[in-house]
Amino acid sequence: MLSSRAALGQARGTAAVGQPMPYGVKLPDNPQRAKRPDSVGFAIVGLGGYALNQMMPRFEQAERAHVAALVSGNPDKLQRVADAYGVPPQSRYSYEVFADIASNRGIDAVYIALPSGLHAEWTERAFAAGKHVLCEKPMALSSAECERMIAAARRADRKLMIAYRCHFEPYNLQAMDLMGQGAVGQLRLIRTEQSYRMGPTSPMENWRANRALAGGGPLEDYGIYGLQAALYLSGEMPESISATAFRPSNDPRFAEIFAHVSSQLRFPSGAVAQLVTSYDSAGINAAEARGTEGALMMQPATAYSGNEMVLEAGRDRRKFAPGDSTVQFARQLDHLADAIRDGAQIRTPGEMGLRDLRLIEAIYGSAETGRTILLNPDGTRRS
Ligand SMILES: NC(=O)c1ccc[n+]([C@@H]2O[C@H](COP(=O)([O-])OP(=O)(O)OC[C@H]3O[C@@H](n4cnc5c(N)ncnc54)[C@H](OP(=O)(O)O)[C@@H]3O)[C@@H](O)[C@H]2O)c1
Repeated sequence: MLSSRAALGQARGTAAVGQPMPYGVKLPDNPQRAKRPDSVGFAIVGLGGYALNQMMPRFEQAERAHVAALVSGNPDKLQRVADAYGVPPQSRYSYEVFADIASNRGIDAVYIALPSGLHAEWTERAFAAGKHVLCEKPMALSSAECERMIAAARRADRKLMIAYRCHFEPYNLQAMDLMGQGAVGQLRLIRTEQSYRMGPTSPMENWRANRALAGGGPLEDYGIYGLQAALYLSGEMPESISATAFRPSNDPRFAEIFAHVSSQLRFPSGAVAQLVTSYDSAGINAAEARGTEGALMMQPATAYSGNEMVLEAGRDRRKFAPGDSTVQFARQLDHLADAIRDGAQIRTPGEMGLRDLRLIEAIYGSAETGRTILLNPDGTRRS
């Protein structure tokens, strides 16, 4: 393990740079259907795997959101995608001319789907252009960046939402309800595991292996789902955190980021959450809440589709099927649209992203010092 985050090299800068068309993209055969007159126009910033394979195809299911503009550093990809989605030439932008979106009245909101280390800068630029923002998770790579983003939203008097899709996903919503109703009795233990094995790569080749763009690695990218689940299943904020992080030597994948991060959160009720995330172990995406009367088990817990959830209590074993998980994408788009048009309260605001970055900083702080970190209810360190 490295002694300090700062000691890690930053082999690649944090400029927005166009990339090739991601693998497996299926562009729509027909441009978007017409939406209601108050539909919110989104500018998609960064045409990467997640934007093209997951989010953009789901605009079709949104009632009040449409793709109005695209921003990309790859002109060929920009043209192909814009043609397929029916985005007119005057609404296609490079990073260099991003500020021009300010005068495009068809753009209400910006969806930031860039590498995580670019979220803060481009969110602030979007607010400077007078647009609302839906920012991908993690909100940023530090709590200081999150605070700047929140301040920029306030100054611009625009909405800031973090794309925590599980807050719109039927299984996770039902899990929150069940836990709120005391379905497992008094909560004692939460365990979450978000892991997969990263293929051969290096910080120069892959932003997910690059500290400047990915932070510590698996925790910000994948483990953040376990952290989120621990908070929304317990309904509590931890009062202390202890953690360990591991970085193998001589592995170019982990030249700058950690391979595994494991943490333990203690809640005021006495319940404990154990969170594990790894980029170097066989794939799993699971969350489990165990209490005095039973256990709620989710696996996969936070997938795009195909989630599963079982409640075991004594001899009873109940399997839930609360609905199609794929609605989560369109629902989060409509949610921001409702906030923009009707002033509805945002369920996953910038403050939630900030809270999570504070906890992530506490996890790394504990891993670095080997000490348990005590926290205030807002996730800041108790002095
Ligand atoms: N909510 C979820 O379930 C979920 C799932 C996956 C990812 N995400 C988040 O979405 C964001 C993007 O992830 P992704 O998997 O889509 O990444 P990706 O496939 O690597 O795409 C990132 C895109 O960002 C643009 N980009 C600008 N500067 C870049 C740079 N210096 N290096 C690399 N790309 C750069 C490129 O678009 P152009 O070529 O168009 O410029 C690139 O295609 C991340 O914040 C990630 O955490 C969320």
